[in-house]
Amino acid sequence: MKKQDSESPTLYGSKRHHRVTVLDLQAAKERGEKWPMLTSYDALTAEIFDSAGIPVLLVGDSAANNLLGYENTIGVSVDELIPLARAVVRGSRSAMVVADFPFGSYEASAEQALATAVRFFKESGVQAVKMEGGVRVLPQVKALVTSGIPVMGHLGLTPQSLHTLGGYRVQGRGDAGKKLIDEALALEDAGAFSIVLELVPAELASQITGSLRIPTIGIGAGADCDAQVLVYTDLLGLNEKPLRLARKYADLRGAITVAVQEWATDVAEGHFPSAAESFE
Ligand code: KIV
Repeated sequence: MKKQDSESPTLYGSKRHHRVTVLDLQAAKERGEKWPMLTSYDALTAEIFDSAGIPVLLVGDSAANNLLGYENTIGVSVDELIPLARAVVRGSRSAMVVADFPFGSYEASAEQALATAVRFFKESGVQAVKMEGGVRVLPQVKALVTSGIPVMGHLGLTPQSLHTLGGYRVQGRGDAGKKLIDEALALEDAGAFSIVLELVPAELASQITGSLRIPTIGIGAGADCDAQVLVYTDLLGLNEKPLRLARKYADLRGAITVAVQEWATDVAEGHFPSAAESFE
């Protein structure tokens, strides 16, 4: 769908004179409006996605394996994510920027989570943070919300628990579904302003979405979530291996490879630079 130009109250496609807030996201849920969220790890993509009207940018810990060369998200640190979050804030004007808490930066206590959130807020200027987990992080969520820090939850496949979950598997099938619904309700009660549902059966995600007042943001969780999130490198076809949960809207890997090889051939054959690209 093409971005609209008019002054409209919609989250996606309207002109805004302020960054998107938690109130805007809540109002969208109440209107039944769906919206997109994308990851971003640098000022350039933040500027492009923000100009395209994406209302929420997530500085995901997926930067670990999509930018920094880690095998999974477990190794990345707060010190590595803060400069990325700062760049995304600098590159964007209208989007809400959410910073992901990396593994090891919040699990120990509410105090540890608060200290991490304060660092992200003061050092990068993000407007919200995200943490993985349900009941086990309720004290952390409450402490942050009480301190005025908006918190996005994350349930279902929580990649930081990869080794406990035994791999990247669908979560909440069968009897486990009831537990996931209870965790979502508990996060809402604790004050979370939205919840990511990752790799959850579509029917269960639909039930959770219908049970919550706050928006759900799906990734591999069916079409009934209030919002959808993708890792931008999957959407743009930059990664080598496509994921079933993502749709490739462009083949930038192919386009970049062709462009780089054409330039390299021109260099090798002495066709670059031309006279027009040179100076007297
Ligand atoms: O880190 C990330 O990119 C995420 C999304 C997949 C929701 O957590």
